[in-house]
Amino acid sequence: MSDGKGAEKGIVVAIDGPSGAGKSTVARQLAERLGYLYIDTGAMFRAVALTVKRSNVSLEDDDALSELCRDLEITFIRQEGAYRVLANGEDVSEAIRTPEISLLTSRISTKKVVREVLLHEQRRMGRAGNVVLEGRDIGSVVFPHAEVKFFLSASPEERGRRRFLELQGKGEKVTLEKTIAEVIARDAQDEQREHAPLCMAKDALPIDSDGIPVEEVLSRMEKIVRLKELEKRAS
Ligand code: DC
Repeated sequence: MSDGKGAEKGIVVAIDGPSGAGKSTVARQLAERLGYLYIDTGAMFRAVALTVKRSNVSLEDDDALSELCRDLEITFIRQEGAYRVLANGEDVSEAIRTPEISLLTSRISTKKVVREVLLHEQRRMGRAGNVVLEGRDIGSVVFPHAEVKFFLSASPEERGRRRFLELQGKGEKVTLEKTIAEVIARDAQDEQREHAPLCMAKDALPIDSDGIPVEEVLSRMEKIVRLKELEKRAS
């Protein structure tokens, strides 16, 4: 399993795609429908960023970064129906979602040492199967043999519009044009980075969520996983 093979008993579902494509909502709800474990790998990178921010570790110090990651225990729990992220036992679910941490996470996720430690951890977490992992490189790098791979996307305009409404709702002064331009710039950064860039695995099923209700996207995905479960049971 350390080579990212699919699970021996259960199913590994990989959901990748750019930010703002609606991955989190879909991945969480799909895991619930299936009764699978849900792993938000973006939250893992964010927990590392928060821990780096609180420490004196420099982003240029690979050894210290690697040690920090290895000492960090990230766990996902469900509390009153909501998913919570714990970093060394502390609930950091809100603290990892600030704009400052988003920015730092984007820089930290380009670090090879960080990706190496998290890759190992993600494979360990997914090993038992019956798991939905959400990220950027799950189907291409973390679980290249995952039984089911989805690549969820939406046009930059649609993703920019969603982000614009979200920011506006928080009372931030933004324009739609600028938000769309930022989405396009972030996509380029994610696609061009040296280590584990955002890319669609060859055998992934592309799903464009533009104008399709979440329920419909979910039903389509669930059907595909259920079929895989039957195939696996029969084999
Ligand atoms: O999905 P998210 O916005 O929570 O991700 C936070 C950051 O982490 C984002 O800059 C992309 C990066 N990331 C990554 O490089 N690889 C993953 N598997 C998941 C997230």
